[in-house]
Amino acid sequence: MQVNISLKKVVDNSYDITIDTLPQVHFDTKVAIVTNPKIAGLHLAYLLSKISAKELYIITVPDGEEYKNQESIDTILESLFNHRFNRKSMLIAFGGGVIGDMTGYASSIYQRGIDFIQIPTTLLSQVDASVGGKTGMNNSYGKNLIGAFHQPKAVYIDPLFLTTLPQREFSAGVAEIVKMAVTFNTEFFEFLEQADLNDVTVLQEAIKQAVQTKADVVAQDEKEHGIRAALNYGHTFGHVIENETQYKKFLHGEAVAIGMVMANETAVKMNLMSVDEASRVKKLLQKYNLPISYDVVNPESFYEAFFLDKKSSDSSITFIIPKGIGGVEITDKCEKNLLLCVLNQFGES
Ligand code: GLY
Repeated sequence: MQVNISLKKVVDNSYDITIDTLPQVHFDTKVAIVTNPKIAGLHLAYLLSKISAKELYIITVPDGEEYKNQESIDTILESLFNHRFNRKSMLIAFGGGVIGDMTGYASSIYQRGIDFIQIPTTLLSQVDASVGGKTGMNNSYGKNLIGAFHQPKAVYIDPLFLTTLPQREFSAGVAEIVKMAVTFNTEFFEFLEQADLNDVTVLQEAIKQAVQTKADVVAQDEKEHGIRAALNYGHTFGHVIENETQYKKFLHGEAVAIGMVMANETAVKMNLMSVDEASRVKKLLQKYNLPISYDVVNPESFYEAFFLDKKSSDSSITFIIPKGIGGVEITDKCEKNLLLCVLNQFGES
């Protein structure tokens, strides 16, 4: 005997991303703003002048990637239980990617899922992490290995928050903008080559284009069964670099910048990208002082570390290789020898 559960339902998870000064919003429910002490010190007063709720609580967790862990998730959940949050209550993620990912994850598991809103405060989280519903935390096995797809109900991107962002973090966000352009949009890349993102109007246009690109990709492939994986361009190499340097030497966006250069070298060797195109990407990254080289001490162990990536299976690793500028190939057919050759090249740099 067989009993079938029919779950073929269409769920509308659509939401709006507003790129503008934060609007005045009132929530007729319990709301908790999840943030860290640094962002709270800089911007909480501004947020509180815009947001009101039936009951409003602030939850702070320590600042930094090393705190994107179970302990911080427990801090958030404890507070929700203490304040008797229910399934109609809501969370607001107020910070960078770490806060966004953890708040999203906590909201995905609290009482089997409550709503949350993203108010990203770093360039990297405004153009990438806050959009698309990837949530999670790290554990001793690696980055973002625990988590859920849980879409926010809305994203508010207010460029005002970027005025206090340190230059290095700003550049790390630029790396993710470059990623969107190289993989999906030649014209956007050419715009970036001409543009100066330190100009607020230009920056706002670049944020809009990057977010539009990401939104189009996520709309096609919410749970990364196909094209969404292209957004991991530079990340397969980048994650190994972050790991080898214990997340201390490079910001995520910086490791991704080096990772993109490595992916481009791979593309050149596979005749998917010209030497000229690869050097145009390098030049654009250098314009924002992003690192483009890394000393690969042991190419074999660097290669082995690829298998810890979420996109790997027992015997193959998925690589995102650019096809010129504005195109991309998702492949598990990169030969080990070719990759070692690329990694050796970096070892010599
Ligand atoms: N950051 C890549 C993605 O959201 O798919």
